[in-house]
Order: sequence, then C-alpha cells, then structure tokens
Amino acid sequence: MPGLVVVGAQWGDEGKGKVVHWLASQAHLVVRFQGGNNAGHTVVCGGKQFALHTVPSGILADKALSLLGNGVIVNPRALREEVEGLERQGVRVRGRLGISPLCHVILPTHLLLDGRREDAGQGIGTTRKGIGPCYEDKVARCGVRVCDYLDPPLFRELAKSHLRLHAPELARLMPLARARRELFRDYEALRAFLAPFIADASVLVEAALERGRRVLFEGAQGAMLDVDFGTYPFVTSSNSCAGGACVGAGVGPTRIGAVLGVAKAYTTRVGLGPFPTEIEGRVGRFIREKGGEYGTTTGRPRRIGWLDLVQLKAAARINGFSRLALMKLDTLSGIHPLRVCTAYRLRGRRVEGWPCSRRDAFDVEPVYESFQGFSGDLSGARRFSDLPEGARDYVRFVERSLGLEAAVVSVGKDREQTVLRRPGGAAGFWR
Ligand code: GDP
Ligand code: IMO
Ligand code: MG
Repeated sequence: MPGLVVVGAQWGDEGKGKVVHWLASQAHLVVRFQGGNNAGHTVVCGGKQFALHTVPSGILADKALSLLGNGVIVNPRALREEVEGLERQGVRVRGRLGISPLCHVILPTHLLLDGRREDAGQGIGTTRKGIGPCYEDKVARCGVRVCDYLDPPLFRELAKSHLRLHAPELARLMPLARARRELFRDYEALRAFLAPFIADASVLVEAALERGRRVLFEGAQGAMLDVDFGTYPFVTSSNSCAGGACVGAGVGPTRIGAVLGVAKAYTTRVGLGPFPTEIEGRVGRFIREKGGEYGTTTGRPRRIGWLDLVQLKAAARINGFSRLALMKLDTLSGIHPLRVCTAYRLRGRRVEGWPCSRRDAFDVEPVYESFQGFSGDLSGARRFSDLPEGARDYVRFVERSLGLEAAVVSVGKDREQTVLRRPGGAAGFWR
C-alpha cells in the first residue's frame, strides 16, 4: 500500500495535528520527516487536550507506531519533557516511538545562537528552538547526529570542534566555559534516555509498505515556510513540502500514493514576513479570538488573513495535493462579508502566480472576491448537507478554484467535529 503524506498548505498551524490524529487510527506507522520542536500541534480527543512538538501526533492513536525520520532534528531535553508530559497524561510513548540514528541533535548552543540572532535585530521571528543553527550545522557537515550523540568519546570530540567553530558568536553571550557546561549539562542522563528509542526509520517504513500496511508521513510547518518555496528568508530551515517526506524518511517517491494538503478556511502566520491577505482591525481580532489563534509552541498571537487562493495554488503545485482538508470553517461563521483572494496586483498589473522576489511578495496587493458569508453554529455538522448554504458555496468555490476536492471539512477541535466527503472513512485517504 503506497504511503500517504499530510502537509500544511499555508504558513503552519493549519490543523495538521487533528487530521493526522484522525487518520492515524487507520495507520500502522506515523512518520515525521522534517522540522523539530518548532512544531506545535494541539489535538483534542476524549475531552483531553494534548500539545505535541517533536513526537508525531499519531502517538495519540492507540495502534500506530510513531517514527522520527532522519530529516527531523531532535532536542533530547525537550523530547524527554514532552515524553514525560504525555506519559503523565496517560499516553504510552516508550516502546511506540522510534528515532532514526541519522536525526541531527539540537544542542543547547543552537538555542543560544537562535536567540542571540533574534535579539540582535537580524531576526525573522523564529520559535527560538535552535532550528536554523542546527540545520546550518547539518548542511555545513559539522552537526551531531543521534548516533554520534550516543557515542560518548565521539560526542566529546564533536562538541569540542562545535565550540571552537561557534566560539566567536557564543563568546558575545557568555564565557565559553559556561557554553561548554551547557553542552554537557545532563548529557549522561539524556543519552540514557534517548538510547532505547533508536530505530532505523527507513528500514521500518520499507518493511511496512512491503507488507501492505498503511504508512502516514506527517509534515510540520507548511508550504510557505518551506526553505525553497516559502517566503524566503522568512521561512523555517527544512523542506516542509511533500517531497521532503522522501528525503526526510528515507523512502523513494514511487512509494508515495497520495498527498493530503491541510488548509484553514482563512490564513494565519506567526513571525515576520510577507502576508498579502493580512487583516488588521476588528475582523482580524474576531477571528483570532474565536479561532483561538495563539501559537501552541510560543503562545504568540497569530497574524490573521483572508483565504489566499494564489498562495494555495502554489502550494498545490509544489506538493501535488491529491485532495484538501479545509479546517476551521466554523470560525468564519458570523462574518459578513467574507473575502477570498483570487489574484494579486503588482505595480498596476494583475498577477496570478506567487512571486519569487522578496520585494514583490511584500508589494503585491490582493484582488478579492466577496461572499455573503454564513451564520450559526457549524460544529454539529457531520454531512456536507448539514452546513448552511453560504458555507457550502464557500467550500465549492475553493474546490473549483483549486481543482481539488475538499475531502475533509473541519468544524471544530474535536475529531468528531468533522464533515467527511469521501467514502471509506479514514482508510479511503490512502487511495
Ligand atoms: P498544526 O500545527 O497544523 O497541527 O495546528 P495547531 O494545532 O498549531 O493549530 C490548530 C488549532 O486549531 C488547534 O488549537 C486545534 O485544536 C484547532 N482546530 C483544528 N481544527 C479545528 C476546527 O475545525 N475548528 C476549530 N474551531 N478549531 C480547530
Ligand atoms: P506547525 O508544525 C507556524 C515559523 C516561525 C518563524 C519561522 C522560522 O505547528 O505548523 P523556526 O523556529 O522554524 O526557525 O522559525 O517559521 N514556524 C511556524 N509557524 N507553525 C509552525 O509549526 C512553525 N514552525 C516554525 O514562527 O516565522
Ligand atoms: Mg502548530
């Protein structure tokens, strides 16, 4: 059975966690393939709320095994906290989570460097989790992988050259001896914590696919935060588009059968950077409060904007979406009129595609189509016909514009609060 990739179609926080948790009930393996604990997924199930960062959202489904593929970066201390937190909430993690030995390790110094760059005014509004500095070291071939971290003499050697390499920048923050102490703080305990999780994700994925089992690849962030295709330089440092699943999990493209794009019925982003359809003022505040648009990882208020079809078309192209999950439609209830961006204007000319130039991305002005909107509480809808006519019109317009089926329409946080428009339940998404 070919694999299913689930990715964010906008700037992250689309509701991937809810969708992955729901699909994971039918999966044998759930595999993260990029990013680290910059991700923050809130999942509500059985009346309880969970926040996931490095651990795949699939861990909340009883049967599925979760894996961190080689493309994920792991902060051992943060992972230990997350695992212990989940276990306190009654989720069994040990024995159900595997970590590729090829994952790179986010070191305490990476967090210091990330924070310093943000504070020094070169910032883009990162999550300050050390993501950029860790991926920089990986690509510069001076990173520490999990397999290196588990080898104490090798780790000591690599830590020494790491400190030497970053000494000029670290010395502006603290005496180097202190940075060194940070690097080794709790090392033995963290090493002992990580060791039992080691598993060759690529081999396990291949074996599961061979046996005809359902494998789900769980993306973090979203298309516009992709380091190649996003709003560079206001992006994260990994490939969050669907292609990232292949390199980040060690699986070939012939093994992927479908890609589900997850988009909100409006747009949000956290951090700096261009955001053509951003809404200031009353309507933006209404959506932020009604949709609870505050970051799961940093608590920052999310910036709010209208749905942007130019942006989503670009996302559909780079990801090859098979279908769409349209989330948080309930949040738009009570807003009259609703607006959807269908094109941009740039220096007086109409533009249909997402601009590459960082200057143009700030300068484009959205061209909007208006909708009357809809009212009432949508959260009880389970069939498409349960939705008010205005909401159905809105969904159909998005589908027509993108040439994609909105196979999932989500109307609330809980997994039950979902309108499914495909036969075969969650299992149908692998086809
Ligand atoms: P992720 O990073 O893509 O997993 O998304 P986040 O978890 O960061 O943000 C999505 C937020 O919206 C979470 O708080 C979810 O519980 C919530 N959510 C997901 N789907 C819906 C929905 O259809 N309606 C409402 N009102 N909230 C939703
Ligand atoms: P999930 O998986 C939303 C944003 C940060 C910042 C930029 C770079 O929950 O959708 P980084 O710390 O990665 O170097 O920050 O990317 N960002 C996210 N925004 N959701 C996320 O993850 C994000 N992960 C990173 O706000 O603008
Ligand atoms: Mg999130």
